[in-house]
Amino acid sequence: MRVAVTGSSGFVGEALCPALAAAGHAVVRLVRDERGGAGTARWDPASGRLDTAALGAVDAVVHLAGENVAAGRWTGARKRAIGESRGPATLSLCRSLAALPTPPRVFVGASATGIYGDRGDELLHDDSPTGDDFLARVAVAWEAGAAPLAEVGARVVHPRIGMVLDPAGGALQRMRLPFRLGVGGRLGSGRQWISWSTRHDLVRALLHLLDDASLRGPVLVTTPTPVTNAAFTAALGRALHRPTLLPAPAFALRLVFGELADAVLLASQRAEPRRLTAAGFAFEHATIDAALAALL
Ligand SMILES: NC(=O)c1ccc[n+]([C@@H]2O[C@H](COP(=O)([O-])OP(=O)(O)OC[C@H]3O[C@@H](n4cnc5c(N)ncnc54)[C@H](OP(=O)(O)O)[C@@H]3O)[C@@H](O)[C@H]2O)c1
Repeated sequence: MRVAVTGSSGFVGEALCPALAAAGHAVVRLVRDERGGAGTARWDPASGRLDTAALGAVDAVVHLAGENVAAGRWTGARKRAIGESRGPATLSLCRSLAALPTPPRVFVGASATGIYGDRGDELLHDDSPTGDDFLARVAVAWEAGAAPLAEVGARVVHPRIGMVLDPAGGALQRMRLPFRLGVGGRLGSGRQWISWSTRHDLVRALLHLLDDASLRGPVLVTTPTPVTNAAFTAALGRALHRPTLLPAPAFALRLVFGELADAVLLASQRAEPRRLTAAGFAFEHATIDAALAALL
């Protein structure tokens, strides 16, 4: 297939693009700036404008772009950027794609387990009701943004991504130094559930979603083995051979990270990936100890 990818320079995109090429697909990176060059086409998230000549006819689009959610304290401007780069940008992109002479047949539009909000010990599956906090509303609009493509008959899939693990970026990269220094510890009560996958398995799952015509709508792409923050903390300590005795109390996290603390670090999502499992997809790293041993 000829596959266009937005957000290709990010933590997930930089692993996905080589994997697509290795699987025999032709990749077009949809870029927002002057990077240009072979294998790229420009797009503007605000207006949805596309360089259709450079894009050509694509069979599929993997849409990963969005302002990073966990990069820092949520100021008003950052919250606006997080929101606008998801729902409105996706709607503009999909309107433009739907208006192409040959619209893509498949749209894999990233989403996140944050769509469920903070749900304690509840087991969440692909079709569980969504939440109503800031991130949940952002993710609902993000998924809804693909409607114009669904209307022209594209197969629209929304991988609901949890915490993505790889030392090259994301949460694990941020946590590695404090844990190495022996000052890592559980966050808040440590009872909040983390639904996760390695980046390697996420990329494999995204390739599966591109190929498997039976999958559409929301699809959890987290392992069937979510862990509590306390269990994750202990596993990371074991993998790095370091103690994890210094918990970070919730009030301290709120002081440092503001709203981000409750929305991301302390929120609980215990996901059960029914659709992906029923489709026969198997995670190579299915337990947190195996994943961290492989990664670290
Ligand atoms: N990593 C995780 O643990 C995780 C968990 C759940 C969901 N997700 C979601 O999966 C997607 C990919 O994750 P990631 O970790 O690869 O994210 P990332 O490293 O932050 O990369 C996202 C990419 O989006 C583009 N981008 C950045 N700011 C933007 C803006 N304001 N408007 C439009 N595009 C913007 C950039 O690519 P270009 O410069 O190439 O355009 C950037 O490299 C994201 O949407 C993320 O929310 C990730």
